Amino acid sequence: MVDSSRGYNYEIVKFFTVMACVYLVIGTGVGVFIASQLAWPNLNFDIPYITFGRLRSVHTNTVLYGFAGTVLVATAFYVVQRTCSVRLWSDKLAWYTFWGWNIYMLGIFITLPLGLTQGKEYHEAEWPMDILLATVWLAFLLNFTMTLAIRKVSHIYVANWFYLALLIMFTYLHVVNSLSIPVGLWKSYSIFAGVQDAMIQWWWGHNAVGFFLTSGFLGIMYYFVPKQANRPIYSYRLSVIHFWALVFGYVWLGAHHLQYTALPDWTGSLGAAISLAMIIPSWGGALNGMFTLSGAWNKLRTDYILRFLIVALAFYAMSTFEGPVMSSKTVNALSHYTDWTIGHVHSGALGWVAMISIGAIYHMVERMWNTEMFSIKLVNVHFWVATIGTAIYITSMWIAGIMQGLMWRAYDDYGNLSYTFVESVAQMHPYYVMRAAGGFIFFCGALIMLFNVIRTIRLATADTRHVSSIPSSQQT
Ligand code: HEM
Ligand code: HEM
Repeated sequence: MVDSSRGYNYEIVKFFTVMACVYLVIGTGVGVFIASQLAWPNLNFDIPYITFGRLRSVHTNTVLYGFAGTVLVATAFYVVQRTCSVRLWSDKLAWYTFWGWNIYMLGIFITLPLGLTQGKEYHEAEWPMDILLATVWLAFLLNFTMTLAIRKVSHIYVANWFYLALLIMFTYLHVVNSLSIPVGLWKSYSIFAGVQDAMIQWWWGHNAVGFFLTSGFLGIMYYFVPKQANRPIYSYRLSVIHFWALVFGYVWLGAHHLQYTALPDWTGSLGAAISLAMIIPSWGGALNGMFTLSGAWNKLRTDYILRFLIVALAFYAMSTFEGPVMSSKTVNALSHYTDWTIGHVHSGALGWVAMISIGAIYHMVERMWNTEMFSIKLVNVHFWVATIGTAIYITSMWIAGIMQGLMWRAYDDYGNLSYTFVESVAQMHPYYVMRAAGGFIFFCGALIMLFNVIRTIRLATADTRHVSSIPSSQQT
């Protein structure tokens, strides 16, 4: 096995990697189902456990914690070992992280359909599960930090800084937003109330985006793009500026989710101003990743993994331009409460988070099992299916969102609203069907990846013929 001489713990990374593929299938599968419920409400079947309201949070928790979280742990354990030239500090803590994480997900699949929820977005799970997640996360943080501490190289590679920011901030955010008073095993009330509750919730919510869906995935970008392209990162200095600007900026943005609410007006303005400034570090980072390919763009024609990584960077640039625009009060007055937000979310979630994860998963599978993918044709099919599915999903939501916003604010000559709310809902039907179709196409890609990964692993473990087929340039 590659690098077995250095004694890295790849076993744990392998388990997380396979589970990430499984959670992508479940999370997008539920996504397609709830998207179909919005297009055809009869699919709620009047069964409380599978209504849109309950399954929506099953979807968000499965894609965010099940899929994205699992990818983050897998890649963090992989990257920290390789860049520090040392085995993980504690195998036991790593396995605790694995089992704790998956038991947490099992809890999600049971409690949320039963309607046991705190009602806080991306933080729905009730207090016993909050405690479990906190211990799992602390185990992850301790193991990662101690592995850095015992590293055999003097330098801490920049990807690890991004992971560390995620680990520290997520602990802090999760604990503060979880503060609640239990009144039973499965019921608790937040210690915050009213406008403070909203403010804390979106301080958590936006930093979940900034650190969970961005900082950690930038860690992935800074390791896997140069590695797959076999070139050094374009500018190491830019990556350090990117890091500090990002961690300084993100924590101020939460209030842009609460424009025109009971929050003091200046908090929304501050959120919007810093959001606009965030274009600079975000684009600096995206360009740093893309310019790594300068002079080697031809690799994109042949390297089936690099394509995922570079398209992810294009989507990262796009969603970090769109986000700041949506933060401004003028645009937010149109976009807030509409499907434009859902379009923005999924251009980040599918285009950036999922694409970069998929690239990293294929990269790690080939390296850890010391083989090529079972079917490169299927990887190429996956690339196109994922790109086309994402494009259909987000375009339909952009059209739907702008249409909703314009219909809700249209007045006739007498100052009456031109449209009733239900008329705007009826207009959404074709776009909701389109979104379900785009989502289904993306879901097929996730199934293809799971199949390809399982076949690759089975062949690699059973058949040593594949070992010789890997290009020697990829064996580092
Ligand atoms: C500089 C970068 C970004 C800024 C300034 C930004 C800004 C915004 C704004 C203004 C909203 C809508 C708030 C509202 O009207 O309710 C929003 C929603 C959202 N954004 Fe971004 N965005 C950025 C990047 C990203 C990225 C890269 C992702 C990755 C997936 C992302 C995920 C989300 C999510 C999940 C929501 C929905 C939150 C909710 O209402 O549940 N954003 N963002
Ligand atoms: C097949 C692919 C997918 C489909 C069909 C899908 C569908 C949906 C639907 C229908 C909603 C509810 C929208 C609403 O309330 O109006 C939603 C919300 C959401 N999805 Fe997905 N999704 C998919 C993949 C993903 C992935 C891979 C991620 C993250 C990595 C993700 C993250 C989210 C988030 C954060 C929200 C909440 C957005 C908000 O509150 O503003 N989705 N999704």
